Amino acid sequence: MSKVTVDYTDYFSGMIKRMREDGLLMVTSSADGKPNVMTIGWGTVGILWSLPVFVVLVRPTRYTYSRLEEVDEFTVNVPSKELAKAVLHCGTVSGRDNDKFKDMGFTAVQGKMVKAPIIEECIMHYECRVVHENDVIPEALEKTIINDAYPQGDFHRIYYGQILATYADENALQKLKS
Ligand SMILES: Cc1cc2nc3c(=O)[nH]c(=O)nc-3n(C[C@H](O)[C@H](O)[C@H](O)COP(=O)(O)O)c2cc1C
Repeated sequence: MSKVTVDYTDYFSGMIKRMREDGLLMVTSSADGKPNVMTIGWGTVGILWSLPVFVVLVRPTRYTYSRLEEVDEFTVNVPSKELAKAVLHCGTVSGRDNDKFKDMGFTAVQGKMVKAPIIEECIMHYECRVVHENDVIPEALEKTIINDAYPQGDFHRIYYGQILATYADENALQKLKS
């Protein structure tokens, strides 16, 4: 499937729908180029500091977190519904224990602008470079959210990734609508 450049605002509602349904696939790279993928269910795209930005939340317990300390770049990949099982696997198994690209038969294609690869089998791809990060501040967060989201106290680190490239399958709209 050939990929075409799109605007980062294109297919926004389809992307959010897929994040809510199954989750999106975030890919990081180690310094020596080994990719790791994890599922994300929380994040958004918008404008910050006049830049297009993909905001993601990663708990410190994730292997992905230590990867981002090594290479501060990532890609976000929008999977089709057919990849639901793979998305669940990537959201329950850690890259510390398994090579999830291998497990799922994913094809890692070199990013155009960042070290982290994209997942060829996904519909849409955002390449991002971290321009800011901060930790969730418990004292500044509503109590009900703390109780619901952080029973173990593992507060996320929030990464703000400047979107450097966005591209998608030619028939992305059709796939994201279904
Ligand atoms: C649907 C779904 C959404 C998830 N969203 C997030 C998320 O936004 N942030 C996060 O830190 N973990 C999230 N997780 C959990 C991680 O994907 C999971 O712990 C994963 O195994 C971490 O992989 P890693 O250790 O290779 O980084 C989610 C899991 C699922 C199934």
